[in-house]
Amino acid sequence: MVLYRKYRPQKLKELDLSDVREKLVRTLLSSYKPHAYLFSGPKGTGKTSAARIVAKILNCEKIAKTTIEPCDKCDQCQAIIEGRHLDIIEIDAASNRGIDEIRDLKEKIKLAPVLAKYKVYIIDEVHMLTNDAFNALLKTLEEPPAHAVFILATTEADKLPETIVSRSTKFDFHRASLEELLHALKRVVIGEKFKIEDEALAIIAKNSDGSFRDATKILENAINQKATTFQAISAILGTDSISPEKFLLYLQQNKVTDLLSAIVNMEEKGADFRLFIASILDLLHGILLDMHQVKQAHLSKDLKDIFSLKELNKLIKLFSDAYVQMRFAGRPDLPLEIAIIEWSENLNKEVKS
Ligand SMILES: Nc1ncnc2c1ncn2[C@@H]1O[C@H](COP(=O)(O)OP(=O)(O)OP(=O)(O)O)[C@@H](O)[C@H]1O
Ligand SMILES: [Mg+2]
Ligand SMILES: [Zn+2]
Repeated sequence: MVLYRKYRPQKLKELDLSDVREKLVRTLLSSYKPHAYLFSGPKGTGKTSAARIVAKILNCEKIAKTTIEPCDKCDQCQAIIEGRHLDIIEIDAASNRGIDEIRDLKEKIKLAPVLAKYKVYIIDEVHMLTNDAFNALLKTLEEPPAHAVFILATTEADKLPETIVSRSTKFDFHRASLEELLHALKRVVIGEKFKIEDEALAIIAKNSDGSFRDATKILENAINQKATTFQAISAILGTDSISPEKFLLYLQQNKVTDLLSAIVNMEEKGADFRLFIASILDLLHGILLDMHQVKQAHLSKDLKDIFSLKELNKLIKLFSDAYVQMRFAGRPDLPLEIAIIEWSENLNKEVKS
């Protein structure tokens, strides 16, 4: 089993996003129980994990009275953990935009649960629902049967109709802090009995974009390659061949040969190119926000104003495309190389015209 699944939080105390965890505990302990929860926030921050934990807490037969942690052993908990509970219905609104599922939901929601106290509908990427599906959902949210609970999860809450948001209790999942990431990573390190330097763990956290899943994936990569030092992790991240900052500088200076040889070097060291591109995109994103004075990214002086807005857009498009293509490419380094070459051709054209 991949590590991020193996170490999916099963208890509230394992949710390392501390303010979300605390708000969940308060909510679940209080006498007012929401009928709809809205979990919004970026990828890999625990929305799905927390939704399943809430489903267990609502239905567990041996709930701990003071901590309200689920027992993870009763029939209810077991069935939920294994994803086979008939009353816990997970709907992925991103596939087919939820049309059939919401129709089904409308028909069956009135029926009492088969085994559990509560029927729990977990609707993932809820912002993707069609208008019809939204309206149907809204109707059920207005008058939910007493046995139904909704947990809506989304990475793009601003795309949700206000009517849905106002009927839900909202939980803001957000990027995890370095400390929270380190805490989650340590749980895996201990579980896997893997010896790794603190500095090495810290650089993993720094390169995870605030996502517990990304952090765990890098760690898994490190475990597979027995990388335990700062140096070895940097090699996996590609940052010891060339830093993302230097990469952007070289792009601006049109140093194609240097860039391509850095990639060859990364390839030889078994770097994870998706992680590398993700850090390039993070930097570009920082420059973009800085340019619009939305947020002061802590950019190095060298990176300030090196690209025009048009260039920045082009770069973001090129590297986003490369990121997507990498998943399907026979060689993961190829999309990155093509992006560099296309950028350079574009520069040369601009110079000539
Ligand atoms: N709060 C957390 N504390 C510790 N580990 C976490 C936490 N949240 C997520 N993880 C790790 O990340 C993995 C993915 O989490 P989860 O599927 O809950 O995220 P998500 O927010 O639903 O992401 P997505 O938006 O991509 O669906 C988990 O299996 C676990 O390994
Ligand atoms: Mg999820
Ligand atoms: Zn239980």
